[in-house]
Amino acid sequence: MPKENMKIRKCLFPAAGYGTRFLPATKAIPKEMLPILTKPLLQYGVEEAREAGIDTMAIVTGRGKRAIEDHFDRSFELEHQIDGTSKEILMKEIRDIVKNCTISYTRQGEMKGLGHAIWTGQTLIGDEPFAVILADDLCDNDGEAVLTQMVKLYEKYRCSIVAVEEIPLEHSNKYGVIAGHEEEDGVIRVTNMVEKPESKDAPSNLAIIGRYILTPDIFDILEDTKPGKGGEIQITDALLTQAKTGGVIAYKFKGKRFDCGSVDGFVKATNFFYNKTQE
Ligand code: UTP
Repeated sequence: MPKENMKIRKCLFPAAGYGTRFLPATKAIPKEMLPILTKPLLQYGVEEAREAGIDTMAIVTGRGKRAIEDHFDRSFELEHQIDGTSKEILMKEIRDIVKNCTISYTRQGEMKGLGHAIWTGQTLIGDEPFAVILADDLCDNDGEAVLTQMVKLYEKYRCSIVAVEEIPLEHSNKYGVIAGHEEEDGVIRVTNMVEKPESKDAPSNLAIIGRYILTPDIFDILEDTKPGKGGEIQITDALLTQAKTGGVIAYKFKGKRFDCGSVDGFVKATNFFYNKTQE
């Protein structure tokens, strides 16, 4: 079977960044382990991947990230302590993940950017199309989860997909911004993308958020991608190479997204999820 026809079976979670915007909290705790209410950001991401039919999680970690591995593992003493009590329910979802998913790790030795983190994940992904979730972009909606929407779209288009959102132009310097032509409602064939442009240079108001489906040729492209904006290897630059052969679509996803990598977005997500528990 041609590899683009394969089902999306694996999800990569780049989680090696320093999370400097959350210092001092992130001095010893990975940003991806900060909780919205009682659940770490990364667990929300893993649950979204499972909803999309994926049960193999590949996590790119770095120094100081051991809490991630401990979280996605058994905790015999604790479990023994709460078994048969009213607290058992609080561990139901994580126990289910640990029991039913394959979770593997690799370390990014040097934090050379998101593109480099994804390239580091090749050893866990191999030669097949895969999903990427940035757990600090927390998505929610009442219908299908964002990654489920994208996996369905992949079955139709069989090329790399980036999730995009309309942003106020003054925020363009925080995102990769795309340009292209609409193929169908909410689906844009990408012709250009620019990493963190100033608003005057932004090719549109459509910004890439932390959900991707990537075809495996991205790894060879990343290997040849020179450091870009901020001296980091940018996934946007590698995707532009794919886009030049028509190989990337952008998808205006249905749902809400919170930028939990910023304090403001983190607080908004906390309030939103708390209010949901009160409904
Ligand atoms: P961010 O730029 O939002 O994360 O990267 P950061 O660098 O940790 O945050 P600040 O700006 O210092 O607060 C987006 C995602 O990419 C991962 C991060 O862990 C985050 O999930 N990432 C980024 C890596 O895994 N490796 C890198 O070299 C850079």
